[in-house]
Amino acid sequence: MDHLPDGRALGDAWQRLHELADVPHLRVLFDDDPGRAQRYVLDAVDLHVDYSKQRITDEVFDALVALGEAADVAGRREAMLSGEHINVTEDRAVLHTALRSAAGDSHVVDGDDVDHQVHVVLARMAEFAERVRSGEWEGGTGERIRTVVNIGIGGSHLGPEMAAIALDAYRHPEIRCRFVSNIDGADVAGVLADADPESTLFVVASKTFGTIETLTNATTCRRWLVAALGEDAVESHFVAVSTNAEKVSAFGIDTDNMFGFWDWVGGRYSLDSAIGLSLMIAIGPDRFEEMLAGFRAMDEHFATAPLDANLPVVMGLVGLWNNNVLGAETKAVLPYAQELARFPAYLQQLDMESNGKSVRLDGTRVTTATGPIVWGEPGTNGQHAFYQLLHQGTRLVPVDFIGFATPHHDLVEHHDLLMANLFAQAEALAFGRDNDAAPHRRFEGDRPSTTILAPQLTPSVLGQLVALYEHIVFVQGCVWGIDSFDQWGVELGKELANSITPELTGEPPDEGTARPSHDSSTAALIDWYRRRRRT
Ligand code: F6P
Repeated sequence: MDHLPDGRALGDAWQRLHELADVPHLRVLFDDDPGRAQRYVLDAVDLHVDYSKQRITDEVFDALVALGEAADVAGRREAMLSGEHINVTEDRAVLHTALRSAAGDSHVVDGDDVDHQVHVVLARMAEFAERVRSGEWEGGTGERIRTVVNIGIGGSHLGPEMAAIALDAYRHPEIRCRFVSNIDGADVAGVLADADPESTLFVVASKTFGTIETLTNATTCRRWLVAALGEDAVESHFVAVSTNAEKVSAFGIDTDNMFGFWDWVGGRYSLDSAIGLSLMIAIGPDRFEEMLAGFRAMDEHFATAPLDANLPVVMGLVGLWNNNVLGAETKAVLPYAQELARFPAYLQQLDMESNGKSVRLDGTRVTTATGPIVWGEPGTNGQHAFYQLLHQGTRLVPVDFIGFATPHHDLVEHHDLLMANLFAQAEALAFGRDNDAAPHRRFEGDRPSTTILAPQLTPSVLGQLVALYEHIVFVQGCVWGIDSFDQWGVELGKELANSITPELTGEPPDEGTARPSHDSSTAALIDWYRRRRRT
């Protein structure tokens, strides 16, 4: 029996769905219903989405919508959009939708006009981005900026990196973006080896400005810059994006060169805040605004469309069906667009950090599975790696295929082949082929997928796609009754790493702190490393 935080039962709605679990094969569903491919399609903004190859019937669809109603998705949506503190464990509003509010909108939350704050920062970002793009912003020796290095991790990295790759066709021809995230020195060393200090701008992006990876990488980059150009150059080669002005200043970055955001923006929901500064420099403020307009259009659809014609709601509910009723444990997102190479990694944080929870808002343990394992790679590469398991393995892996009508290159014959492969894979998964005598050559089919198509991967379409997945995650979190906006699960590992570091380096523990005691396995591993580490 599943419950909402306020105790109202969802049990009946789940019960109904479980009763409907025995759905005929997709072949039968299509044979019996010539209108299926027309009926299970939604168009929202520029996205054309076909979910007819999901293992659902009209009865299942109605029962899913009833589940969404019983979970009060519409009421929870209103609570989020109006700035209620729906992130209860951190007592925060959840207002990433305000980041793409239209100019002139006004929306007062906790006494602040959040839309106004957003537009003040966007204007500062645009002014700065234009100065960098035009060459007016000079480095310490008078060179223009040619390389922008974003130093951040998690939500302060994955969004800008994913989007910079996705929108490379719109990039300023003389400016390239590089990304440093991992504490592994190989990451920063690789980027610096290829950079010229005189023309490199570092954007240190961290919501908290307390993240060890980002501060360590930023310190290394600062040292590299000062060694080449001297201390005075820091001012024109380092800017910060953060909610924490004090820590930015303590790090040695002038807060005049800081772009702020707010605690009501979750890290994994921050691509369209100042965290997108490196992207804005690359594609320009106008293209960035087009991306925001795409987000906004999807937000409007999500806020206003009835549940049964609401794309994020329908995709979210279908995901629940696959996950909680059909038992799928993972979800593959397979973009047939090389530019979306980092989209699955971006979605991993968005979905798994949001919905990888096992406790409800009221502190009780969930009784259903929650967020799926999200993974994926661009097609057609994945076809030659893991699709074997998708077609003939024992596990059910629902797929989201993503494709575009027009590429950003002129190699039309490549694009036709690419799209032919997308359509073929979805068809083969759904319908299989069982007329071969040899069992190992049979494809049983009945493997569900949704196909998302759009005219082209423009900034607006990217904004629409990201907003779509943000809202899918929200809808699913509502039904599970969890807090999709905290991330306590990352804390324990961080704490333990902090306590282990001095043990590796042999530094005495801070006064008053005892050496942590470890299990015998961890103690032996630490000992193995200590005896071999390079000093
Ligand atoms: O790993 C946890 C996390 O807090 C993410 O939620 C966040 O996106 C990332 O670390 C980076 O945090 P920050 O932007 O504060 O450096």
